[in-house]
Amino acid sequence: MSEADEKIVILGGRGMLGTDLANECETRGIDFEIFDLPDFDITNEEHLRSILKDTCTVINCAAYTNVEKAESEPELAYKINAEAVGRLGILVRKKDIWVLHVSTDFVFDGTNDRPYLETDPPNPINLYGRTKLAGEKLLIESRCRCCIIRFEWTYGLNGNNFIRKLLAKAKQQGKLKVVDDQIGSPTATTEAAKVICDVVGKKPKGVFHYASDGYVSRFGMAGFIVEKLGMSVELESCKTGDFPTVAARPLNSRFNCGKIKKLLSQIIKPWQKPLEDFLGQL
Ligand SMILES: NC(=O)c1ccc[n+]([C@@H]2O[C@H](COP(=O)([O-])OP(=O)(O)OC[C@H]3O[C@@H](n4cnc5c(N)ncnc54)[C@H](OP(=O)(O)O)[C@@H]3O)[C@@H](O)[C@H]2O)c1
Repeated sequence: MSEADEKIVILGGRGMLGTDLANECETRGIDFEIFDLPDFDITNEEHLRSILKDTCTVINCAAYTNVEKAESEPELAYKINAEAVGRLGILVRKKDIWVLHVSTDFVFDGTNDRPYLETDPPNPINLYGRTKLAGEKLLIESRCRCCIIRFEWTYGLNGNNFIRKLLAKAKQQGKLKVVDDQIGSPTATTEAAKVICDVVGKKPKGVFHYASDGYVSRFGMAGFIVEKLGMSVELESCKTGDFPTVAARPLNSRFNCGKIKKLLSQIIKPWQKPLEDFLGQL
């Protein structure tokens, strides 16, 4: 099949990232099709087989993404994030289909004192992270032609993310207490979608890290949002330990994105501009 005939199949195409990816494909004139719950279930082998018939590129954005709930639904999270991804690998290998699988910074424990490289040993500290890491491993073990891109701190118009939760809380309480010891790079799903489309054009193998350029704490990010939206909210910093959650969070989510920059010969935009654009759309 030539590049011109190529169809991109987006699994989880109605989710936060999947929606922006579908929009980006449309903008670029890329032929694509989306599959998602309830009519498509990635854990159903027959569903997977039926959509792999005439395709030559698969992008897997389907995932169990509720980090807190995963702790009490480990079997379901594992089935979607790991088992189904391994099965996808076996099926695409038989057809020699290249697959791009989306993963996360939550495969790391966040104890590194520098940005994470793709070669750094993973060590997830919550159930969601363990299932995502298991998915990566099963996909690689299937020996299919695959690329894994890990993203971090993503936000988009079509999802319930940190920003939406923050704004809801500010509206409800008039004040915000935000952790200042979790550091990362807020990354717009619109930017992630562009990168995915660029990577599809190259079809590399292996693991890549992608995040917006620069780093900020959750508290710093909240301050930026409050300022840009001109909100009158009381903002207070606290530590992760003051904010008990069911699932542990890595403190350092920073990525070294040198590998993907080299692959695409691109610079990456600083996190502020896409976030400002996003806030303008709310
Ligand atoms: N959000 C972040 O901060 C973040 C950071 C790094 C990496 N990621 C990764 O980015 C990818 C996309 O996540 P997202 O943020 O776009 O989350 P999302 O909005 O929850 O998207 C996931 C999509 O997968 C679908 N899905 C769930 N179970 C499925 C199943 N059994 N079969 C088929 N589809 C299923 C969901 O449908 P329902 O909504 O109906 O359940 C949803 O449409 C995931 O791999 C995630 O791990 C996310």
